[in-house]
Amino acid sequence: MNIILLGLPGGGKGTQARFITEKFGIPQISTGDMLRDAVTNKTDLGLKAKEYMDAGKLVPDDLVIKIVEERLKRDDCKDGFILDGFPRTLLQAEALDKILTRMSKKIDYVINIDVPAEDIVKRLTSRRICKKCGNIYNLLSNPPKIDGKCDICGGELYQREDDKEETVRRRLQVYKEDTEPLIMYYKSKGVLKTIDGRKDIDDVKNLIERTISKV
Ligand code: AP5
Ligand code: MG
Ligand code: ZN
Repeated sequence: MNIILLGLPGGGKGTQARFITEKFGIPQISTGDMLRDAVTNKTDLGLKAKEYMDAGKLVPDDLVIKIVEERLKRDDCKDGFILDGFPRTLLQAEALDKILTRMSKKIDYVINIDVPAEDIVKRLTSRRICKKCGNIYNLLSNPPKIDGKCDICGGELYQREDDKEETVRRRLQVYKEDTEPLIMYYKSKGVLKTIDGRKDIDDVKNLIERTISKV
């Protein structure tokens, strides 16, 4: 089962990808997480990507396409994968099609988690993430049991650099210009499923599970 999660920054892609990974045993491929790791480890890729990410802009297509292609070739993707945050431009989508064709694979579903842009600033400025295990929290909709600590591993929670209001607004604008056209792209291929992302985390999870269980 090969899935793409599409949707606004803060729409819930990372939250839902973790559930799908757990339930269906297929890996989450989050270009955002991979790029943040590269920035933390100060690799060549990280040094190139940092200024774009901090500004809420997209990292150049060629860099991102390369890391996804390498990742998809790894053994754990043989029975499926969830792409979270990739593709984000038409050029990336076309490159992905070519990569998958070469690998004799295809995308089964593109799940578009639909949330109004006006909800996003509030969601992202109240997001917190575990430093150790990456679990995602929200001070308003999904708070940790103990302030500042992860429920799962006790790790410290942090706020992402690009979750400042001004950067969130920039990311929303970039989504509209560069990523929104992918909705039509995948609709025309007949693989798009739009899910109401305003519902509770658990309801969204159930809607997605029901959709992909049919594959
Ligand atoms: P990336 O890390 O992909 O960020 P994003 O797309 O902006 O999405 P987010 O991770 O912010 O949100 P999400 O949809 O995962 O939501 P989450 O589940 O956390 O990219 C970051 C940067 O990397 C980009 O700006 C770019 O620079 C670069 N980059 C990455 N990929 C790239 C690419 N392909 N090409 C070029 N550049 C790339 O949820 C958000 C919050 O809401 C959480 O607090 C959560 O608890 C809460 N929440 C979740 N679901 C619900 C719900 N149903 N109701 C209420 N609250 C909810
Ligand atoms: Mg995410
Ligand atoms: Zn944790």
